[in-house]
Amino acid sequence: VLKVATSADFAPFEFQGENDTDYQGFDMDLIRAIGKEMGTKVEINNISFDGLIPALKNNEIDAIIAGMSVTEERKAAVDFSDEYYISKFAYVRLKGDTSLNSIDDMKDKRLGAQLGTIQEQEAKKISEKTVVNEAITSLILELKNKNLDALVLEDVVASAYVSENPELEIFATKDMTD
Ligand code: ARG
Repeated sequence: VLKVATSADFAPFEFQGENDTDYQGFDMDLIRAIGKEMGTKVEINNISFDGLIPALKNNEIDAIIAGMSVTEERKAAVDFSDEYYISKFAYVRLKGDTSLNSIDDMKDKRLGAQLGTIQEQEAKKISEKTVVNEAITSLILELKNKNLDALVLEDVVASAYVSENPELEIFATKDMTD
C-alpha cells in the first residue's frame, strides 16, 4: 500500500467527493494512476496542509500530493517530482467591493491565506494584517462573514471557489515568479 496524504480543500486538484473518505480531483486521479503503474494500492489521507511535510518526515506517509509548490525551503526537507502545473496567485474579494482593486490596496486590509503555504508568505509581504488558517474552507467563510477583506489563493482554485460562492470574485492575479 502506498500511503499518501493531501489537503482536500484545493479543487480542482483535490477535494472531498461523495463522502469523507472519497477524494477527487486532478492530483487524486494522478496518484491513482501512479499506483496502478506501480502495481500498489493507494491509500489517501486528508490532513491539514501544514501537517503534510511533518507527516512525511515522521514516516507516517510515503508521499504527498497536494498542489504543493516546489520551493528551496521545502527542497531542503523533501524530494519533489517534476513540476506539472504552474499557477498564479489570485486575490479574491466580496463581489463589488470596489475599495479593493489592486494588490497595493491590501496594505492595511485583513488578507487571509492558508497556513504553511506560499500564499501565507505572499500575504505577509502585502499586508500587515494577514490572517492565517489551516483550512481554505474556513477562510472562505470568514471572507463571506466580512471578518476578512480578501484572500490570496491560486488562479484555478480561486475560480473553483468563486463558482461555488457567487458572492465572491477574483479581482487581481499575479505571476508567482514576479
Ligand atoms: N501551492 C501552494 C503551496 O505549495 C498552496 C498549496 C495548497 N494545497 C492544498 N491542497 N491546500 O504552498
